[in-house]
Formats: sequence, C-alpha cells, structure tokens
Amino acid sequence: MRILNGENVMETIIRENDNVLLYLTKKRTYLVTVKPDKTLHTHRGYIKLDELIGKKYGETIKSHLNTDFIILKPTIRDYILKFTRKTQIIYPKDIALMIFYSGIGPGSRVVEAGTGTGALTSALAHYIRPTGKVYSYEIREDFLLNAKKNLEKAGLINYVELKLKDITEGIDEENVDAVFLDLATPWLVVPHARKALAEWGTFVSFSPTIEQIVKTVKALRENDFIAIECMECLMRRIMVSPSGTRPESRMIGHTGYIIFARKTLREKA
Ligand SMILES: C[S@@+](CC[C@H](N)C(=O)[O-])C[C@H]1O[C@@H](n2cnc3c(N)ncnc32)[C@H](O)[C@@H]1O
Repeated sequence: MRILNGENVMETIIRENDNVLLYLTKKRTYLVTVKPDKTLHTHRGYIKLDELIGKKYGETIKSHLNTDFIILKPTIRDYILKFTRKTQIIYPKDIALMIFYSGIGPGSRVVEAGTGTGALTSALAHYIRPTGKVYSYEIREDFLLNAKKNLEKAGLINYVELKLKDITEGIDEENVDAVFLDLATPWLVVPHARKALAEWGTFVSFSPTIEQIVKTVKALRENDFIAIECMECLMRRIMVSPSGTRPESRMIGHTGYIIFARKTLREKA
C-alpha cells in the first residue's frame, strides 16, 4: 500500500466526492469535488463533473469545446494555494523549511497560533497524521470558521483542534513537540511556549518584520532557549527552455523571517 495525502494511491479510480485537480496549464488548474450534479465552467469550455467518475489520475478529460484537461491528485500544496483566504498565508517555501527544521513528524503534538486562513495548520496536520494533533489558537471567530472549511475540504480537520483563544494569555497543552507562531506579537508567547514544550521541544516563529524578530529573540534568550537561528528563505524559479535556461525575471522579494530555537531545562535567567 502506498499513501499520498493520507489516501491509498493504489486506489486510482475516481469516485463521487473525491477531490481532483484539473490541469490545463501551470497557471490554470481547477480543484474540484466530484459531484454528479456539478459542472465546472472555464474559459476553455465546461466539464460535467460526473464524467470524471471511473477515470484514473493521469488520464485526460475533454471540455465541451474539446480542450484537454489532465486529471491530477491534489497535493497538500495544491490545497493550500486554493484555500479561501481571509489573511495573509505562509507560503510553501517557508512552510517547508519551518516543518523540516522543527523535527515534527507522524504522531507529533503541535501548538500553533494564529490559525488565520489555515495554510500552515493544514501542512502541520498533513505531517503529524494519522496519530498526532495540531492545537491551533485564533482570536477571530470568523477566521476560525473559514479555516475550518478549508481544513474540511483538504480532509484534515480530524487532526486539528481549533481553539478560539488568545495565545498570549497562555497555552493549555503540555509536553508538546513544537510551538509554531505566525502572529503580530510572538515575543509575548515565548514564556508560555517554554512551559508547554516537552524537554526536546522546538520553537518556530514566522514574522514579516525585523522589529518583530529582534523582540522575539530577546524574549527567547531571557527564557533560556538555545540554538536560536534566524533566517529568510529566498526562492528563485528557473525557466528551462530549448532557447535558453535562466532565472525568471521576477521573484517574490519578501515574505518573512523565520526563527528556530530549542528549549533547555536551565532555570530562567
Ligand atoms: C498572518 S495570520 C496567520 C496565517 C496563517 N499562518 C496561515 O498560514 O494561514 C495571523 C493570525 O493571527 C491571529 N492572531 C493575532 N493575535 C493572536 C493571538 N494573540 N492569539 C491567537 N491568534 C492571534 C490573527 O487574527 C490572524 O488570523
């Protein structure tokens, strides 16, 4: 058995209620749930979604204007980039680094704030499943409801506990493997993170400005965290073409800075 996105990929036949990604070009893809009575309308024609039932991933389906769409299985990145956004999200390049450095994996228990759109929440849930849990704190109920819908769509809601709570007032969980932050005042959460983390726990924080990371690192030092590292991840896309291979002219100039730190059992200074 092979598992991709928590599902058995040997099960290649598409069935009612499956999510599929219809690929037209790199920039035009459509994430749809296969419902018999639904139709996808695109500028290259429409597709009745019940025609997907019984097809295999990798196969092609034609729109009524005879345009080919390739049927792909959505990855966690596809889901996140298609989420309904109520806040800025953390982008895949930063999420990847944050999760890898944190050391979490299947079975980990992770605290996160704020939930926002649920992009990082979904990625965390994807990596800690099937036996782990993400405890995600958010102060805005409307954001929490939107994130819940996004998590349901991605099939990840069962691995997440959404909490309508200000994390600067404290963390309910103990012995967690990691604390992930993406909110305006991460330094206020550092003492709570120290209490909530297991001895081996890791702290990860994402902030768009330098002022925020300076305050957060100061708080980490005051709370006896060690191995504090700050970094920025710049990603440059490369165009590979028969006429010449070179970096794309445009790139995303700035997303944010990431801080990693490890807990110690030393007494607070
Ligand atoms: C930039 S968004 C997070 C986006 C999220 N990381 C994602 O990838 O979708 C920041 C969120 O933190 C929430 N927030 C701000 N202060 C908070 C606090 N003290 N406790 C919990 N959530 C908070 C905000 O309401 C907002 O939804």
